[in-house]
Amino acid sequence: MTRGDDGPLRAPRGTQDLLPPASWEWQRLVRDALDDCARAGYLPVETPLFEHTEVFARGVGEDTDVVTKQMYTFADRAGRSLTLRPEGTAPVVRAVIEGGLERGALPVKLAYCGAMLRQERPQKGRFRQFSQIGVEAIGTEDPLVDAEVVELGARVLANAGVDATLLLNSIGHLAESCRLGYLSVLRAFLQERSDELAPDDRARVATNPLRTFDSKDPATIAVMTSAPLLTGHLCDECRAHFDAVTGALDALGVAYSLEPRLVRGLDYYTRTAFEFVSGRLGAQNAVGGGGRYDGLAEALGGPRLPGIGFALGLDRIVVARREGGVEPPPPDAVRAFFVALDDDARAAAFRMAVRLRRAGVGADLDFAGRSMKGQLKSAARAGARWAVILGRRELDDGTATVKDLVTGEQSTVPADDVVRVVAGDGSP
Ligand code: HAM
Repeated sequence: MTRGDDGPLRAPRGTQDLLPPASWEWQRLVRDALDDCARAGYLPVETPLFEHTEVFARGVGEDTDVVTKQMYTFADRAGRSLTLRPEGTAPVVRAVIEGGLERGALPVKLAYCGAMLRQERPQKGRFRQFSQIGVEAIGTEDPLVDAEVVELGARVLANAGVDATLLLNSIGHLAESCRLGYLSVLRAFLQERSDELAPDDRARVATNPLRTFDSKDPATIAVMTSAPLLTGHLCDECRAHFDAVTGALDALGVAYSLEPRLVRGLDYYTRTAFEFVSGRLGAQNAVGGGGRYDGLAEALGGPRLPGIGFALGLDRIVVARREGGVEPPPPDAVRAFFVALDDDARAAAFRMAVRLRRAGVGADLDFAGRSMKGQLKSAARAGARWAVILGRRELDDGTATVKDLVTGEQSTVPADDVVRVVAGDGSP
């Protein structure tokens, strides 16, 4: 349904509008997160909102829920199959190969923030359009880079005020000596207990048995508590790689909890897999996740380029903040708000506000003819530090009355001094 009974049109289900002051908080969170990433050498990348469907079919995997059930796929007017991006990793790897970035210094380190689209059933913390902040380090197997990425994810979340637990696992690589050998063992176990599994999970045993670890069905969950674990079947190289990753995290003092049943929902993962979970999110408790994808570039037709990255769900970061009692802080871009007591004062206020803006200082004024009290309220709502009051007397004297809205102190200064005073730290 697109509209309520005869009411105005509404946004599609599973989407949300971002309005002030939450939109301001959002923008600050994005900026701070991308700054954290840039300080670790991850520079921004933007990829298109849609890709050839194959990027996800081949990259994310034909048997995943994302590809089989959740993609917004459509034929364009020329009959090409396109898909609104459900995730950012396959597009970024596609872009790195297309741009030939792997011919430069490796790893290629990139960060992104943007909307992703999945047609999932909406619920708390789960949207059809949501935003991710992510990084990808492409072109290295170095376990130190795994530790770098995991630590960066944990730090971005901590700086966003989210208290999350890091779950860590290794899911090995696709060889008989490693994950493939284990999958035969797991499949045999699941076939034996097949009639105890939920029907959906039974169907997965042949195609994607690892996914049964992610089942939400109580019957399947009960079976999985005694399932053989991949941890015991890792090859020597993957085991050594994982030990190096945990060793590096220990050295950094990054806390994690080993979670041998963590499998992740996308097929490109190899070796290190991790998730950040928050107790504040209810059923959708993953505030972020990531891992290694050593075969992804080849699956997309490129050279071998092992990589690792994470994506954090910005919408869930905000939900977790709210549940933790954090409300959006008042916007702080407008530093001075003019309070004009008549029309002449308003014209002067307008000119002075633009002068402040030209000098790089945020300034605003009332355009609705409010009373002085109303204008002072607007000043507070705008998050202004200063109210600059202009009345008849000030106009005649060439002055302005500046009121510090934090201390309540007020003084009258020459009009030409307003920029200096409101740009300063509060001392006259
Ligand atoms: P993902 O686990 O599918 O991984 O998504 C990462 C995060 O995006 C989730 O932990 C969650 O916070 C958020 N998220 C996912 N779906 C929704 C939704 N429907 N509504 C709200 N938030 C959602 C990836 O997408 C990988 N590309 C991550 C990655 C990067 N792996 C390596 N590099």
